[in-house]
Amino acid sequence: MEHHDANPLGARRRTLITGARGQLGHALAGAFAGDDVVALGRDGWDVRFDAPALPWVPDLVLHTAAWTNLDGAEDDPQGAAAANLAGTTHAAALGAPLVTYSTDYVFDGMKGAPYVESDAPAPRSAYGRTKLHAEAAAGERAWIVRSSWLFGETGHNFVRTMLRLGTEREEVSVVDDQRGCPTYVGHLAEATRTLVDSDAGFGIWHVAADGDCTWADFAEAIFEEAGIDCQVRRITTAEFGARAPRPALSILRSEKGAPRLPHWRDGLRACLAAIGT
Ligand SMILES: NC(=O)c1ccc[n+]([C@@H]2O[C@H](COP(=O)([O-])OP(=O)(O)OC[C@H]3O[C@@H](n4cnc5c(N)ncnc54)[C@H](OP(=O)(O)O)[C@@H]3O)[C@@H](O)[C@H]2O)c1
Repeated sequence: MEHHDANPLGARRRTLITGARGQLGHALAGAFAGDDVVALGRDGWDVRFDAPALPWVPDLVLHTAAWTNLDGAEDDPQGAAAANLAGTTHAAALGAPLVTYSTDYVFDGMKGAPYVESDAPAPRSAYGRTKLHAEAAAGERAWIVRSSWLFGETGHNFVRTMLRLGTEREEVSVVDDQRGCPTYVGHLAEATRTLVDSDAGFGIWHVAADGDCTWADFAEAIFEEAGIDCQVRRITTAEFGARAPRPALSILRSEKGAPRLPHWRDGLRACLAAIGT
C-alpha cells in the first residue's frame, strides 16, 4: 500500500469514484465496497469543472467519468475534450493517487499483433485523441489503465444492445473485421483493486479480458449463452459505415505483469448471470 497517503487513524481508505452512474463506476462501487466510498455521478460532479467540496480529502480517486460516445466525438471534439482532458486534469488536481481509464482506441490497429504498454499510440478518432491527451494530464501519481470493449449489466453497451435486438429481430448485421478483447466491468473493477493494492508502480497498464474475437463472434456468443434464436450476418466496417474510424486489431496485452483477467466468454457469462438472463 506504499502509494497511499498515510491515514493516521488507520481508518478505511477514503475513495472517490467519478462517473459513478456509468457501467464501470457502478462496478467499482461494488469492488471497493470495503473502502469509505463517495461515488459521484454527473449531478454530483461535472468533471469539466473543479471538484465540489468533499467530506474528506480522498486517499484514492477512481476516475471513470468520460465522454464515451465515439461517433459523437467526431461531431463535437471539443465537447469530448472538455469531459476527457479537462476532466482528468481536474481529477488529478485533487492530489490523491489516481486511477484513470484509457482505451485501445489510442492505437491505430495497424500493428497486426497485440499491443503492449510500450507500443506507440496513434489514435485515429477524436475520442482516441482526447483519451491520449487525458493520459498525459493524469500526472505522475496515476495508474493509467487501458482497457477495451467494456460491457456490464448496466448502461449502454454491446451486450445489452444485442440482448434487445436479438429478441426483436431474426437477424442482426455485425462487424466482423475488428478484433479486440470484450472486457466485463466486474472483472476490470476487481483487477483495479488488485493493482492499487499491489506494489505495482504508477504508469500505463493494459488490463483487458483474456482471449479475443470480432464483434460478430461476440454477438453469436451472446445469443448462444442467452439462448436467443437470432442469426448474425457478418459485415465489414465499411458496410456498417460508422462515423469514427476504429482500429482493425486492438488486442491489449501486458508486458509488465498487469493483473490477468478471465476470458471474455467467462465475463459474458458473469454479466448475463448478473442481468438474470
Ligand atoms: N466503454 C468502453 O468500451 C471503454 C473502453 C475502454 C476504455 N473506456 C473508458 O473507461 C471509462 C469508463 O467507461 P464506461 O464504459 O463506464 O462509460 P459510461 O458507461 O459511458 O460511463 C461514463 C459516465 O461518465 C459520465 N460523464 C460524462 N461526461 C461527464 C462529465 N462531464 N462529468 C461527469 N460525468 C460525466 C456519464 O454520464 P452521462 O450518462 O450523464 O453522460 C457516464 O455516467 C472511461 O474513461 C472510458 O473512456 C471505456
